[in-house]
Amino acid sequence: MWKHHKRFERHSLWLVLGITVVVSVGGIVEIAPLFWVESTIEEVEGVRPYTPLELAGRDIYIAEGCYGCHSQMVRPLRDEVERYGHYSLAAESMYDHPFQWGSKRTGPDLARVGGKYSNDWHVEHLTDPRSVVPESNMPPYRFLADQDLDVHAIRAKLAAMVAVGVPYTAEQVENAEADLNAQVDPYASETSDLRSRYGPRVAQGDFDGNPARLTKMDALIAYLQQLGTQVDFSTYQAEDPENLR
Ligand code: HEC
Repeated sequence: MWKHHKRFERHSLWLVLGITVVVSVGGIVEIAPLFWVESTIEEVEGVRPYTPLELAGRDIYIAEGCYGCHSQMVRPLRDEVERYGHYSLAAESMYDHPFQWGSKRTGPDLARVGGKYSNDWHVEHLTDPRSVVPESNMPPYRFLADQDLDVHAIRAKLAAMVAVGVPYTAEQVENAEADLNAQVDPYASETSDLRSRYGPRVAQGDFDGNPARLTKMDALIAYLQQLGTQVDFSTYQAEDPENLR
């Protein structure tokens, strides 16, 4: 075989052809199976599409560039798991378009920040980060509490998510605005259908401490508070524990 190798080394055309063949084999081995497997993401119980309010909050997170300092993926490394909690599963960001994994961490990873602090803490922190974490260099976002949340496009936003594969039902799209308003109304938890549409663990209430207004702060905190909380890790069993080390 090495005898023939000479031909490749001396004739650039043979070399190019040879490289093409070798690279194609690698490419086919990686790409072809994707046409046969149903999904490369293992389904995990509890993972659901965002509620309309959370989706609106996610848009604010992106618009404000929070991803410039925060990642949303706990890597499967011991120091990360000890600091943040269970490493992130692919399924946990399957409805994220675009995903927020990130690699820049001026601030901590936020993939499991949901439920770590109270709503009041988040209001305080977003208004003036240094009032709760003196050494923080995070900028303040107090204007979010003074700006009304623009809800007129929320149905269209859900419909756009459907177009890229998020399985919102027609009923969820239809009721997007009602569901959004119900989530910030502390008195609607009994009467609205929000939880029947998105699951019993959806947090309902006033998020920004000002029940008189629906602000961008409400939406952003609703989004932050559900991050990493959809999967119940006390019962979660990975398919193959051998892969987890
Ligand atoms: C310039 C970088 C920077 C930007 C931009 C930034 N943060 Fe931070 N963030 C930090 C730093 C640093 C910390 C750690 C100190 C602290 O808690 O304030 C932090 C902490 C946090 C925490 C607490 C995390 C924890 O586990 O204690 C939350 C929540 C948070 N940021 C949310 C946001 C949101 C939401 C935005 C966008 C509106 C944002 N951050 C934008 C730098 C940033």
